[in-house]
Order: sequence, then C-alpha cells, then structure tokens
Amino acid sequence: MLEHFGQFKRSKYCGEVSLSDEGKELSLAGWVHRVRDHGGVVFIDLRDREGILQVVAEQKTNPEAYETAKKLKPEFVIGVVGKVRKRPPGTENPKIKTGYVELVAEKILVFNTSEPLPFPVDEETPVSEETKLRYRYIDLRRESMKQNLIFRHKLYQLTRKFFTDEGFIEIETPFLTKSTPEGARDFLVPSRLHPGKFYALPQSPQLFKQILMVSGFDKYFQIVKCFRDEDLRADRQPEFTQIDYEMSFVTEEDVMGVAERLISLLFRELLGIELKTPFERISYREALERYGTDKPDRRFGLELVDLTDIFKETEFKVFRAVVNQGGVVKALNFPSSDLSRKEIDELTRFVQSLGAKGLAWIKVEKDKLTSPIVKFFSEDETKEILKRTNAKPGDVILFSADKKEMVYKILGNLRLHIAKKYNLIDTTKWDIFWVVDFPLMEWDEEEKRFVPLHHPFTMPKEEDIPKLLEAREINDFQKKKELIHSVRARAYDLVLNGEEIGGGSIRIHRTDIQELVFELLGIPKEEAREKFGFLLDALRFGAPPHGGLAFGLDRLVALMRGLDSIRDTIAFPKTQRGICPLTGAPDRVDERQLKELHIKVVE
Ligand code: AMO
Ligand code: AMP
Repeated sequence: MLEHFGQFKRSKYCGEVSLSDEGKELSLAGWVHRVRDHGGVVFIDLRDREGILQVVAEQKTNPEAYETAKKLKPEFVIGVVGKVRKRPPGTENPKIKTGYVELVAEKILVFNTSEPLPFPVDEETPVSEETKLRYRYIDLRRESMKQNLIFRHKLYQLTRKFFTDEGFIEIETPFLTKSTPEGARDFLVPSRLHPGKFYALPQSPQLFKQILMVSGFDKYFQIVKCFRDEDLRADRQPEFTQIDYEMSFVTEEDVMGVAERLISLLFRELLGIELKTPFERISYREALERYGTDKPDRRFGLELVDLTDIFKETEFKVFRAVVNQGGVVKALNFPSSDLSRKEIDELTRFVQSLGAKGLAWIKVEKDKLTSPIVKFFSEDETKEILKRTNAKPGDVILFSADKKEMVYKILGNLRLHIAKKYNLIDTTKWDIFWVVDFPLMEWDEEEKRFVPLHHPFTMPKEEDIPKLLEAREINDFQKKKELIHSVRARAYDLVLNGEEIGGGSIRIHRTDIQELVFELLGIPKEEAREKFGFLLDALRFGAPPHGGLAFGLDRLVALMRGLDSIRDTIAFPKTQRGICPLTGAPDRVDERQLKELHIKVVE
C-alpha cells in the first residue's frame, strides 16, 4: 500500500481549501470525521488540524473511489486525490471556512482503519474525566481541546518574544535538585549513585533564579515546569508551568511594570482586549476585610460587613461569647434574594462543612423581620445591623461569628458559593488587580510556628526591619506575635477573576537579614545551613538587590479561554487523584530497579 504513497503526498491542509482552488487537482489527507451514504454518492467530512472539507465520491464518475468510500468508518485515516469544485447552489455551508467548495474524489487510499471509538470526536457527547484522559489522543482531536493547545502555543511564543524584546535572557534551571520551599511537599527522586540520598524536583526555580542574579545576568526568564505534591483541585496540578522571571537593581514598580506589560500584550494579541494599566492595587488587609480572601472575585458585590462592636453587650449569648473572646461577627447581605427556609438550610450545611458552628440569618420582609435570632437583639442593635448592611425588604442577612480567620474563611467561601449558585457573577468582566502589603509571616496554629506568606526569601519593608530585630528579643508570646504580624513584605500577587495568577517579591539580598528571617521562622542555624547554605553563601559574594515574579501559565490560559479546569489547558494532565489514566502512572516498578536504588517498599 505504501508504495503508492507518492501520489497521495499532501498538497495542502483540508481547512485551507477555498474557492481560489476551484478546478485544481489536490491531494489531501486526514481523518474521516463523518460519512454519509446517499446511495450513488458518499459524502465524507475529511478532517485535519486546520479544519474540515467535504469530499464527494460519486458512483457514476468514479466507481472505484465510490466503493472505497462506502466502506469508510469514522476516524479512518485516508488520503484523497481529486478535483475541487464549487458546491452546487443551495448546498453551501456558510458555517465553515471551506463550506463553499468540495473535493470530488478520484482516488481514495486508506492509510489506516480505526476501531469503534470509546466516545465520538464531536463535542456534543459528554465524557467522564477518567475516559477522556485514558484516551487523551481522541479527546485532543476534539475542536475545543485542539484550540486550547494552539492558544497555549501562541501564548508561549508571545511571552518569549516579549521577554526577549525587554532584554531578558532565557536560562534553564535543573529539575534534579534540592528542595525549594514553596509551601508544598516535594517529589523525591532516589539517587542510584548515592544510596539513601534523594534529589527533589523543584517546586519553583526560586533559588536558582536568585543565584543567576548573583551571577550578574541581570534579567532572567523561563517557561518552566514546577512540581508540588499537594492536594489537587481544579486549579492545581502536581506538575504545572510557570512563566518565571527575575531582575536586578529593581523595585516593586519595575517588576510589576513588566507583569502589566506582558499581561496587557497577551490580552491584546490573543483576545483583542485592551486592559487598563496600571492595574489597580488593594492591600491584603482590605481584601480580607471586604471579601474574606486574598484573591477576591470582585465581579459581584456581597461584601462582608463588620458588626463586631454592636454585639459587645448583646443578649444573644453566641455572639457575645465570641466577641468577648476576641472573635468577630461579620455578615453579608444577599439583596433581593427572598431565600426560602430550605435555601437557607442548604447554605447552613455549606458553611458547616467548612467548620462553621452555624449560620444565623435575618430575612427582611416588608413589615417584619423573620429570624431565629432577632428576638435576642435590642431595638438599637437591630437598627444598627439593618443600617450597616443597608438592608431592604427582600434581602437576607447572613451572619458568621467566630475567630477572625474562621469568619474570613466561612464568609469568603459562602460569598463565592452564593455567587455561583445564584449566577451573580458578571462573566463579561475581566477583573485584574494587585494585592499588596502582605504580612511577611503569620502564626500557624497547627504547626506552632511562624510561616512565610510567600516564601522565606521575601524582603520585609525597609521600615519594618527594626520590628523584626525587636521581636527577636521579646519573650512575651502575644506581644511578639503582634509585632511580627505587623511586619509587611515587599510582595505582590496578581489576581484575575478571583484566581491568583501570579506572585512575587523583592528578595532578601543580605545574609544578615536572611539569617534573621530564618531565625524568626523557627529554622535553626544548622538546618538553615544544611538546606539553604548554598544561597547564604551566594549572598556573601556580591549579591545585587533583586526581585521577580512567577505566573501560573496553566491558570492564565484557563481563565483567558474561559475553562473551568486547568486540566483542559494541558496536553497530558493528571486526574484529581494525581493519576495519569493514559499511561497508568504512578505505577509499581521492578524489584531489580528498587534494589539498584537501595529502596525497600514496606506494604
Ligand atoms: P507561587 O508559589 O505563588 O510563587 O507560584 C506562582 C504561580 O503559580 C501558580 N501555581 C499553580 N498552578 C497550578 N498548579 C499548582 N499546583 C500551582 N501552584 C502555584 C499560581 C501562582 O500564582 N517562586 C515564586 C514566585 C516568585 O516569588 O517569583 C512562586 O513559585 O498561579
Ligand atoms: P443556637 O442558639 O445555637 O440555636 O443558634 C441560633 C442561630 O445562630 C442558629 O441559626 C445558628 O445557626 C446560628 N449560629 C450559631 N452559632 C453561630 C456562629 N458561630 N456564627 C453564626 N451563626 C451562628
């Protein structure tokens, strides 16, 4: 069969055939998207990467091609030689690019057959995630998946050109390396040559890019895989891609400026959308107070209202107890919602699943308030609640009382839950902004130590450095905690439509400050040496001031394409359970391999 291949050598893509080809003899190749046998004529929709073209095999003009065409099934791979003709009037399909022409088959060669598919290539049929990923090669034939990957390709190219034009140098950093802390667990790779020792796959190129600044490269970038062993969600993969960059002798403004120019360029070139620059900035504190999260979706209202001071003396014991123990009471007003009891019960179950003790509520009606709790409130208290929440008839006010962090978590999530459930999000909006003025560290109650909000290499604000020195000397824990919490970082996160698409900071470039930060993070000197000695050493040999940022490329593509999951932006992703159904990874390995690696599996 293959010796005939010569005459079937493709002359162009199916999707590129147009009226200008009328009368030409062409050779095309691709997959049988659909076949329709009309008795005497067979219509084949022939598909390749660039589109679909109608091929006609007629019994009267070409019996041989007709006989072959009759036997075709979806996803057979064929070559067709034939002549392009204008479609007869009334049979045109203006919906597709090639809809005004068709190819009249003279010869058809079947390169390969296909078994019946586990799911059809057209988009209509819903398919389970597991099946989709197991037969990813079929899923990737679907138009939307193909477009996602082509979009991603264009985004890579624009990004590379952008950074090159801005004077950045692309440098690769190792995958087999030492642990870089970004707050997740490491994937480890055992070393055959060094029994008992392990490489860690990098959670990011953070330390290498800082060291490249010490080397004097001044401006670095990379489109790079990062590996994090963490609980997966729709917006998280164990291996994902960052657009990573770092610059020397810069301030926050410089690094953020690069990010704004890149994102504006991508939106302009890929979506035809002009974003307004500079992007708005809000503080970490404001984000939490108004939306309960540091990556708020601001495409809808439902802002948190603080009511704590109203309930200092209240008769409602639940609230008073919380306030007296230093907690807070906050509410959100869901306007004109007229929620039923059943709906409120559903919201209550939702917050309870997050650890809330309850969800107090007031339903504002024309001439009365319906609520399980207003009976405990004084007239003044009720009046003040209605005033601050700006409540009107039809509104339902929902309350959360707990420790501050818990209330943020509950109402921040409730806000999103309601917005999704009741379609409050204006999906025509692009809401992009910076979150700044993050605290440098916060106390982690579970781990019983201070943890960095970004990573331990983030520079504190200059004016806050004396506070760190002072905190080191304080023994009273409460005082120490308050002081440390008041230290702000020179860090910035970029949020798009309620998702963190990037983050970065100005780094610590002095050994003394880095050691001080390690100490306050509870990392003993020896441990800091062992883990980060190479960085501390590098800082001693002429480290310039520097800073940078990394974008989550998968998330950026997903948001720009309006996809629910970053899996749809990745050719071969893992499932929610970290499995690759296509290859079956992770999998067991040979006993011999384990032996070479000096590893024993304990069942
Ligand atoms: P950070 O940890 O914030 O910063 O990561 C940068 C961006 O990467 C994306 N991201 C992820 N995307 C998919 N799956 C994941 N598991 C995942 N984890 C993170 C997010 C995030 O904003 N070295 C620093 C950057 C710097 O300081 O320059 C870093 O890695 O969109
Ligand atoms: P109770 O007195 O426990 O019956 O609670 C009265 C109302 O307050 C119920 O609607 C509870 O859901 C609600 N509630 C209880 N604890 C809290 C809390 N910590 N925050 C908000 N609402 C609460």
